[in-house]
Amino acid sequence: MQITKAVIPAAGLGTRLRPVTDVLPKELLPVVTKPSLYLVLEEALKSGLKEIILVVSPAKKSFFEHLKEVFPKLAFQFVIQKEPKGLGHAVLMADQAVGPNPFMILLPDIIIDHPKPVCLQLIKVFQKINRSVNATERVPRDQVSLYGVYEMASREGRLHKAKRVVEKPPPEKALSDFVVTGRYLFTPDIFEVLKKTPPGRNGEIQLADAMNTLAGRGELYAYEFEGLHMDIGNPVGLIRANIYFGKKEYGKSIYQGLV
Ligand code: UTP
Repeated sequence: MQITKAVIPAAGLGTRLRPVTDVLPKELLPVVTKPSLYLVLEEALKSGLKEIILVVSPAKKSFFEHLKEVFPKLAFQFVIQKEPKGLGHAVLMADQAVGPNPFMILLPDIIIDHPKPVCLQLIKVFQKINRSVNATERVPRDQVSLYGVYEMASREGRLHKAKRVVEKPPPEKALSDFVVTGRYLFTPDIFEVLKKTPPGRNGEIQLADAMNTLAGRGELYAYEFEGLHMDIGNPVGLIRANIYFGKKEYGKSIYQGLV
């Protein structure tokens, strides 16, 4: 089955990047000369995705209208999340727009660089196993509490079967160093699960809690992707992405006089 639709949840407040995010959505902050969201949309295009469902807040919607002209090969649909009630809630807003087929979720603040786009890596796995499969990677133990963390049941090479998922556990309670990394491929039953998922951490409906339900049923897989991930949602990650792509484009001259 072809995967053509992707949900991009972009209705968050971006509080960690204030004050710039008070005037400009996080998704449009530059990575060198490109709004960061363009890098994510380029990954979607290269992966064969065709329809983008952008979940936006009422205040941010007008900032994204121009995308239709910049990416004429992608069809855009806007879905409003009135209040930021969590990532799981944002995804649930896209239920009708997604419809009955498997789809992807791309977090726009996670940029992953690899010649074979991560979405495509997940699509290839899905075509073999026909189950929900999300990107995972190992991170140093002292960083696990920044992420959703997996407990795995079994593995075969890069493909793991998940047993549990816990959102941002304290380091001593983390079940492994495998974390959830911002690219997801779900069968549509995730919506049924999300509808029944109560607010969790921070009083928000957490996608990780819904993933945990799928994992408990033995229906969630995680794939150790190839590529380098950068989280532009925090100041250091935004700087790192600019250094990484800046060096790629301009070489070591970017360091002149700095180090
Ligand atoms: P984040 O927690 O990284 O983004 O959510 P945020 O809430 O905008 O940032 P901070 O924590 O205030 O700095 C991950 C993704 O989910 C979206 C965000 O826009 C981001 O792309 N999101 C989050 C929503 O669309 N709605 C929400 O209610 C929460």
